[in-house]
Amino acid sequence: MYNPIVLDHFQNPRNLSEIPNATLVGMGANPICGDVMTLYLDVKDGKISKATFKTLGCGAAIASGSILTEMLKGKTLLEANTIVPQTLVEALGGLPKIKLHCPELAVEALKNALKVQEGKN
Ligand code: FES
Repeated sequence: MYNPIVLDHFQNPRNLSEIPNATLVGMGANPICGDVMTLYLDVKDGKISKATFKTLGCGAAIASGSILTEMLKGKTLLEANTIVPQTLVEALGGLPKIKLHCPELAVEALKNALKVQEGKN
C-alpha cells in the first residue's frame, strides 16, 4: 500500500518528540478521521533551527510529520508558509488516494504554528 519512502518515514520517523519551551507550537486535527498532530518549532535568527512533531495518527500522518519536520529545518517562516499538502505528497513519492487527506493534518499544524508567530508580531 505504501511506497518505500513512506514506509521508511512511518517505521523510522524523524523528529518524533516534543520541544519543551518551543518557540512556536501548532496543532492540527483531521475532521475526516479525528487524528491529531502537534508541531514544535524552534526559531533562531529568523530560521527554523529545529522542528519536531507528535501525533495520534495513521502511518501516512506519521510519515507526513516526519518529512515535514525534515523539510522545515533551515527554512525561514515565509518559506515554511509556502508548504502545502501536495508538497508533502510529492516529497513522499506519492500516497494512496484514500490517504491524501493525511498530509493536511501536518500542514494544518504548521499553519497554526505560523499563525501564533503572526500574533506575536
Ligand atoms: S487516517 Fe487520519 S491522518 Fe491518516
